[in-house]
Amino acid sequence: MCGIVGYIGNKKACPILIAGLTRLEYRGYDSAGVSTIEKNGLSLMKTKGRVKNLNDLKGIDKLEGTIGIAHTRWATHGKPSNENSHPHQDNSKTFSVVHNGIIENYAELKNLLEEKGYHFYSQTDTEVIPNLIHYYFLKDKEDNSTMKFLKAVRNACLDLKGSFAIEVISSYFPDNMIVVRKDSPLVIGTCENEKYISSDIPAILSYTRDFYLLNNLEFTILSKNSAKFFDTELNEIKKKLDVIEWNSSAAEKDGYDDFMLKEIYEQPSAVRETIGSRISNDLKCEIEELKFSKKQLQEITKIYIVACGTAMHAGLSGKNTIEKICRIPTEVDIASEFRYRDPIIDKNTLCIFISQSGETADTIAALKLAKSKGATTLAISNVIGSSITREADYSIYTHAGPEIAVASTKAYTSQVALINIIAIYFAEILQSTKSEYLNFLKQELLSLPKKIEETLKCKDQIFEFAKKVYQEKDMFFLGRGVDETVAKEGSLKLKEISYIHSESYAAGELKHGPIALIENGITVVGIMTDENLVEKTVSNIQEVITRGAKTLIITNQKINYNNFNEVIIIPEIAPFISPILSVIPLQLLSYFISKEKGLDVDKPRNLAKSVTVE
Ligand code: G6P
Repeated sequence: MCGIVGYIGNKKACPILIAGLTRLEYRGYDSAGVSTIEKNGLSLMKTKGRVKNLNDLKGIDKLEGTIGIAHTRWATHGKPSNENSHPHQDNSKTFSVVHNGIIENYAELKNLLEEKGYHFYSQTDTEVIPNLIHYYFLKDKEDNSTMKFLKAVRNACLDLKGSFAIEVISSYFPDNMIVVRKDSPLVIGTCENEKYISSDIPAILSYTRDFYLLNNLEFTILSKNSAKFFDTELNEIKKKLDVIEWNSSAAEKDGYDDFMLKEIYEQPSAVRETIGSRISNDLKCEIEELKFSKKQLQEITKIYIVACGTAMHAGLSGKNTIEKICRIPTEVDIASEFRYRDPIIDKNTLCIFISQSGETADTIAALKLAKSKGATTLAISNVIGSSITREADYSIYTHAGPEIAVASTKAYTSQVALINIIAIYFAEILQSTKSEYLNFLKQELLSLPKKIEETLKCKDQIFEFAKKVYQEKDMFFLGRGVDETVAKEGSLKLKEISYIHSESYAAGELKHGPIALIENGITVVGIMTDENLVEKTVSNIQEVITRGAKTLIITNQKINYNNFNEVIIIPEIAPFISPILSVIPLQLLSYFISKEKGLDVDKPRNLAKSVTVE
């Protein structure tokens, strides 16, 4: 969590930094701050709350410096407060630092520094970093040079356990900034006489398309017209520039009230991009990034799909397809559980990691574990060059475009599409399913963009329903098979942005406990897209209607609609792929409920888009 931005160039840094923070606010919004290099030393302006509060700070409009660092915080160590806001400085106020990540051994380092006479003014883990840098800088008796600055940062970083992306500026070096990352994201955008640093690409995409994507512990000295990279031994290394194809308007609201609504409406094109040339009109399935032979796939005895949150729900729907058409046992696990449960993995295991950001700490750790146990690893991510794509043996991108709203929508549908394509690709090589059926699935995938557009027409009906239920305290989501995975995602969306307590259940499991909670007037959402299961789910829904529930049904099946309060008809589609359509009314439901309640849809309380801490 936390977003960091930096700037070096000829322009005033502060407005650029604040604009960058505003774009990164989805990563955390507990406090914000900037530090620039001014004629009389380092400035430091920070405040509790949203980035816009920075504009109210006295003197912020007077900052002239053309080098600066900035931070928006999702609090981990220490409550949101002015003292705990970043940037942090060493005791002599020579170094300013912003940090994203967690320093696990900060207490130990703090004790060591206290013994050496350093004082601490915040409860954060971060405050040890500028003081450690200062300590190593003073210890080095060489004359001041950028290499001495770099050495101090390197020495400090080698003492840190945990994850960090940091930017450091110093009043001794008015033309430079040092940046480095380990298991937390950081990118450097470059153009003539300017360098932009950010936690993610979209925040600075309006300035440049040319980026350096840093690997772990690549220490970087920046000036306005150069970027020099060093390994931990401080040998200079060469890095290539990556050119990013997205344009900056992809990261703007484009006339929509909120990013979430925009992203819901981008789903036809996002899924079209995901499919891309992977399935051609003449029904060939090719995944450029994967080169599996039949022998290799036949040797796979087990697949794990590992992810967090919404990405894990995409994995659940992927399991259904993989098991059915590839006939390989597949387990889906939450990354934070997987990493600590000693999973049974060997060289015949394929582990698939799904992460929109590619930076989720638990998912990265799970991937490293799987690799260390000899599994073949495959990453699915939306962010080019993100950590999981750099760690995994194979990486495939969803190409859904930047997703800014904290609640994930188009990333989920593009993940479901991609995992279905992977399943088809495997099944074709393995010849585990008849080609007629695989061709049918391919046609169904190609029909998705149109069918998503069709599904989005339910907007007004959902809006009316949302107005009736937005004040409720509890809701239930039920489904069977692949519909249960969508029930889970619908329930999560509702919790995330509407703050309504909700439960999702396999419809057949309801009678084993949760039905005790069904009382007069409660809302139950039923999802039914599988003709083999629809009658069973209808019976389960009937059981809750009998107990007074009002129902919202999402279906493409022929059922007696009269029994239900509201029925949303979605286009017919193969059940494996149906989550991509059936989730849309549920995304809209959460969205409209959140709007009716007057909540901040894009930045729900306590959440962050990218969870880079454990
Ligand atoms: C956070 C976000 C969720 C997201 C999850 C996993 O909790 O709020 O929307 O699904 O992280 O993120 P990832 O980037 O790994 O897909």
